[in-house]
Amino acid sequence: MSRNAAVKGIVLAGGLGTRLFPLTRVTNKHLLPIYRKPMIFYPIQKLVSAGIRDIMIVTGGPFAGDFLKLLGIGREFGLHDLHYTYQEGEGGIAEALGLTEHFAEGDRICVILGDNIFSGEIAEAVGRFREQKSGGKIFLKEVPDPERFGVAELRGKKVTGIEEKPRNPKSKYAVTGIYMYDNDVYEIVKTCKPSARGELEITDVNNAYVRRGAMTWELLDGWWTDAGTFDSLLKANTLVHGTVAMH
Ligand code: G1P
Repeated sequence: MSRNAAVKGIVLAGGLGTRLFPLTRVTNKHLLPIYRKPMIFYPIQKLVSAGIRDIMIVTGGPFAGDFLKLLGIGREFGLHDLHYTYQEGEGGIAEALGLTEHFAEGDRICVILGDNIFSGEIAEAVGRFREQKSGGKIFLKEVPDPERFGVAELRGKKVTGIEEKPRNPKSKYAVTGIYMYDNDVYEIVKTCKPSARGELEITDVNNAYVRRGAMTWELLDGWWTDAGTFDSLLKANTLVHGTVAMH
């Protein structure tokens, strides 16, 4: 992989959002409001702010058409085009990622889970990832409830393993839903096997890079939350409201 490789953006916005029923009975989770905007606006804006202009939205479920109505070709974000694809069924985050192989066309990718809302900017980290010879990069955040997330085990500057929602977390560092990968990710996804919850897990993809010694990590600046439960959805609204009100 050459240096200063192109990086494309991917927002994963599928799933049925069952943890938010009945809110998600007639819409997709990523279209629910976070203060003044639909949830999916935030990750798209983060990619655009990082200078990434080739962006694909992966969605699924019965309300997928609403993304086109809402986002169109991305003019609101200063884009000339947006790409969309559709995940049939509930095969998990890694399966959704696998659907973007033809879009990546050999380039590197920056993936954001559509329900991850955060205040920091990722532009500089994307720059550092471009300089990285190969491999992946994850963003960690210290949290009080790591058992809700993928949790990184750290030894010095190295991440030595990631556990998905462990009962006894080995650290307080959650693996956030912002991931950068070289094009090997698509070969790795093809080797993944469904987990106990019947999904291809992004944690398995990340651990494949960890085993290769090709995973770097950074702490994510500012605040971060997911928004996939009632409490975290409320938290995301409160945090965005607080940040917007300050400016
Ligand atoms: C997913 C990932 C998990 C990660 C989290 C971040 O969890 O599986 O590793 O920490 O996103 O939001 P899920 O939201 O699917 O439970």
